[in-house]
Amino acid sequence: MTEQAHTGRLASGDFDESRLLDTQRAFDSVAPDYDGPRGNNELIQRMRTTMWNTVGTALPAGSRLLDLGCGTGLDAVEFARHGYQVVASDWSPEMVERTRARAVDAGVASRLSAVHLGIQQLHLLGGRFDGIYSNFGPLNCAPDLHAVAAECARLVRPGGSLVFSVMGRICPWELGHYAVRRRFGRAAVRFGTGARAVGMNGHTIWTWYYMPREFHAAFADHFTLDSYRALSLFLPPPYMVDRYRRRPGWYERLGRLDDRFGDLPLLRDMGDHFLIVMHRR
Ligand SMILES: C[S@@+](CC[C@H](N)C(=O)[O-])C[C@H]1O[C@@H](n2cnc3c(N)ncnc32)[C@H](O)[C@@H]1O
Repeated sequence: MTEQAHTGRLASGDFDESRLLDTQRAFDSVAPDYDGPRGNNELIQRMRTTMWNTVGTALPAGSRLLDLGCGTGLDAVEFARHGYQVVASDWSPEMVERTRARAVDAGVASRLSAVHLGIQQLHLLGGRFDGIYSNFGPLNCAPDLHAVAAECARLVRPGGSLVFSVMGRICPWELGHYAVRRRFGRAAVRFGTGARAVGMNGHTIWTWYYMPREFHAAFADHFTLDSYRALSLFLPPPYMVDRYRRRPGWYERLGRLDDRFGDLPLLRDMGDHFLIVMHRR
């Protein structure tokens, strides 16, 4: 299904709704095996640990957190275990069910509630949070980032933090991976404007890609940029985990380069994801 085919048939509101439902179906379809290599392999866990440490630095235990696009609740349960109060939200009902089950299994259901809510529906959510986090690209699936920023401003107290990991535009590993296979359209997908159709499990995820500064611009009316860094720049993106498994020692050295140099000017603008931290003025 192409973007043009959608545009020809549907009014713009329906177009967004239809794309959001495509994305929902895609994630519903992978929820059952998301905790396996697809959603939680060694390369993902490495980025996840950086994210956990960053949230831990920005927000003390006991803070009230909102998770946007929680998936199966791996982060939400981790934070609840460490004493945070977490509202975990996702657009995929299958993912939300898994988060609920994980919270019960982990014995943290009193500190973690899971809600079926798309990022585009934040106006339906009440309450006040010390911080909002979002891990591994849910914000790349939101059609209107300025509206999301305004809702985050309503939900986060002054001084509170946002910690988001977002798919960036310049991923050298991905460019090389697809270019050598002569899949030039796929190699260039992150450079396009507007929603890009990305296939997963026979479905389409409608995805918006950003440079870190471009992303912050949408939040700049309410949030000050504290820092951003590359995630998986020297290391390859998670779907290349087989390479990592063949030579883990060698790739761990690349991981240490990510840890050490991922926040340097220019380098921090690249990578599979970037991790951005902002605070509410
Ligand atoms: C790559 S997964 C990351 C999940 C989780 N944050 C993690 O770290 O494992 C992206 C998640 O974003 C969710 N998502 C996609 N579009 C969304 C939207 N519009 N609103 C909220 N969640 C969305 C998907 O259902 C999926 O659970």
